[in-house]
Order: sequence, then C-alpha cells, then structure tokens
Amino acid sequence: MVVKVGIIGSGLIAQFAHIPGYLEAGAEIVAVCDVVEKRAKEVAKKFNIPKVYTDYRELLKNPEIQAVSICTPNYLHAQMTIDALESSKHVLCEKPMAMNVEEAQSMLETSKKTGKILMMGFNNRFRGDARKLKQFIDSDKLGEIYYAKVGYMRRRGTPRGWFTVKAESGGGPVIDIGVHIIDLTRYLMGNPEPASVFATTYRKLSEYSIDGRQTWDSSDVRDGLRDGKLNDVEDLATALIKFKNGSTMFVEVSWAANISGDRFYINLCGTKAGAELDSYNPIHKGAKNNDALLKLFGEELNSLTDYYVEPPKTVSHFEEIKYFVKCVAENRQPEICKAEEGVQIQKILNAIYESADTGKLITF
Ligand SMILES: NC(=O)c1ccc[n+]([C@@H]2O[C@H](COP(=O)([O-])OP(=O)(O)OC[C@H]3O[C@@H](n4cnc5c(N)ncnc54)[C@H](O)[C@@H]3O)[C@@H](O)[C@H]2O)c1
Repeated sequence: MVVKVGIIGSGLIAQFAHIPGYLEAGAEIVAVCDVVEKRAKEVAKKFNIPKVYTDYRELLKNPEIQAVSICTPNYLHAQMTIDALESSKHVLCEKPMAMNVEEAQSMLETSKKTGKILMMGFNNRFRGDARKLKQFIDSDKLGEIYYAKVGYMRRRGTPRGWFTVKAESGGGPVIDIGVHIIDLTRYLMGNPEPASVFATTYRKLSEYSIDGRQTWDSSDVRDGLRDGKLNDVEDLATALIKFKNGSTMFVEVSWAANISGDRFYINLCGTKAGAELDSYNPIHKGAKNNDALLKLFGEELNSLTDYYVEPPKTVSHFEEIKYFVKCVAENRQPEICKAEEGVQIQKILNAIYESADTGKLITF
C-alpha cells in the first residue's frame, strides 16, 4: 500500500530533501502547507502535489494523510508535532527536536499516548561513512569507545533569517549543526546517557561581511520577505560532555571562526582501535558532503596499523525518509532516530547553553 504524506513548511529542506525523498521512496505526497501561500503553490506545482493549505491544522484534518514531515522553523516543531500526533498522523520532525527539554518531553509523551510514530530528522546517521563506521563498531573492531573529539566547524557560514533569531531558533550553531554532530557521535558511542556538560559559547564574528560566503538562508530571506539582519545568537561553542558510563565527548561547533576551512569530523578512541571520519576538509580538494574519509587506527602483529575505508555514497536525507516511510508502511516505531534519543540530545543542547550562561558544570 502506498504511504500518503503531507508536508508542513515548504521551504528549503522540504524542497531539497523531504519532497524528493518521499517521491524517491515511492510515497504519495497528498498536500503541502505553508503560511506563505505563494511558496506552497509554487512547490505544489513543481512537484505535482494536489492540495495546498496555509493552516497546518486544516491539513491535519485531511483523512487521506497518514504521516507528515515538520519542516518549519524550530519554535514551531513541538506544537505542530503534538497536534499532528493527536490527529492520528505519524511524524517525521526536522532537527532540532524542539526549543527546550519540556517541549521535547511532551512530544515524546504524546507519541507514546497516541501510539503514533515520532521519528527525528537526524539524517547524518544515514551517511554512508557513518553507517560503515557503525558496522565496524558493531562488529567490535573498536572495542570500548571511551573518548570522542568531534566538530562541525564553518569558517564563514552563518545563515540568515529565523536561524539567527533566538526566539525562533532556540540558538545558533549549537542547536543548528551541533545537534547533528552530537547526535551522530553519541549514536556511534552506543547512545550513553549524559551525566554532565561544561561549555562556553562565543559571539565574536556575527557581523562579518565577505564575498562568496557559504550560507543557508531561510526562504523568507531568499524571497525578500525579511532582511535577515537580526542576529542574537552565538557563533562558536565548545563543550565537554561526560556520560554516565564514564566516556567523554569534546565538541566544537561554529558558523564563523578564523580557521583554515570548513570541517565535519569525528575522532573516536576505542580500546581496540580508533576511527577518524573527516569531510569538508580543504585538504581533500573538491570534497563534498558524503565524500568523507574514514580511517581506522589500531595495532596488529606488534605494529601500528592504519586502514583507509572507502564508504558507500548515499544521500543521507533520502535514506532517512526511505526508512521513515518503511516504518509507516509497517506501522512500527523506528529503531533509530527515536523520540527518546531526541529528548536526550535536547538535554545536552540546553545544558550547553545553561553552562555557557552560568559558567557552571551542569549535571543531570
Ligand atoms: N537536516 C538538515 O540537514 C536540515 C537542513 C536545513 C534545515 N533543517 C531544519 O528544517 C527546518 C526548516 O528549515 P528550512 O531551512 O527549510 O527553513 P525555511 O525558512 O527555508 O523554511 C521554513 C518554512 O516554514 C514555513 N512556515 C513558517 N511558519 C509556518 C506555519 N505556521 N505553518 C506552515 N509553514 C510555516 C516558512 O514560510 C518557510 O517556507 C528547521 O527546523 C531546520 O533546522 C534541517
């Protein structure tokens, strides 16, 4: 049976990931909703989507729709997800799960109460390199992973629009891209429970201006509906996360920093071997997302050994959506990117801000 879906928010992530992802997965997109009617209509026309709504509550009344993607700014995720679950729709919610832990918790509780699927849009878990590394970890090639040093760093890549307005986004790079690297690393480490967080955030380069800046502007800025000048969030953060099993994760994230170039990297130290996943690095000329290098470092026959692993190439968003559609078709909760995991990540994200604001170690 073909899975029938609705899209709430028809901006960039809906257009480049969710809509093509559902089409690729063989689902039928019944309707699209956006407060900007012109955008929703254009998207509907481009992708041949029959119905357009400007009020998501009206879309949720459509009995044909089994599942929805929430592709709106962060401050709308919780209410829209809860309303969708209570309207008997399964939900794929974009990252971050919510603005704070209370919201995330009530989304999880609503999913449990209604029995409807709630999956988080942690697409990086579906990268070819991440999946390959997880296979090595699951076959015990790394042993016990006790330390991770990771980062998602941009040299000049501050988005504009709602992303930089704390009331709409919840924060800067911590909540926008830190969410990805922290979730992926914690997943690779076996989803340990957080014990404490000590963090610092900075706001030093928010007003930069440079030609050729790499960016991700909100649709309203792209369409000239807002100027995108307001910015009241951090541009760099560093945090030490300690888990209850004794392992630690050291993480750095930035939208703007004076570094040689953009990087998305994960270094894992295990008792049997270590691993390094590295992409966007300017030393790998022409590298794109999913063109990452995966290396393993160990010891064999009394010698140090380095392995280079060629990961399969995947479009992580499409793989994520294919998996969600499968869960909906089989009417079962996902085994990865679960709402419970979203809540744990939200706790860490909010603790980073709390620690940075208070200067204190935050314990759970
Ligand atoms: N996983 C990823 O790689 C990734 C990448 C980018 C963005 N995102 C996430 O996707 C979400 C959307 O980001 P985006 O880049 O597409 O932003 P965007 O600004 O391009 O799109 C958001 C859309 O939501 C619409 N919207 C706002 N209020 C609405 C309402 N009340 N009802 C219906 N529609 C409404 C806006 O008009 C806009 O079209 C965010 O949560 C963001 O963090 C995820």
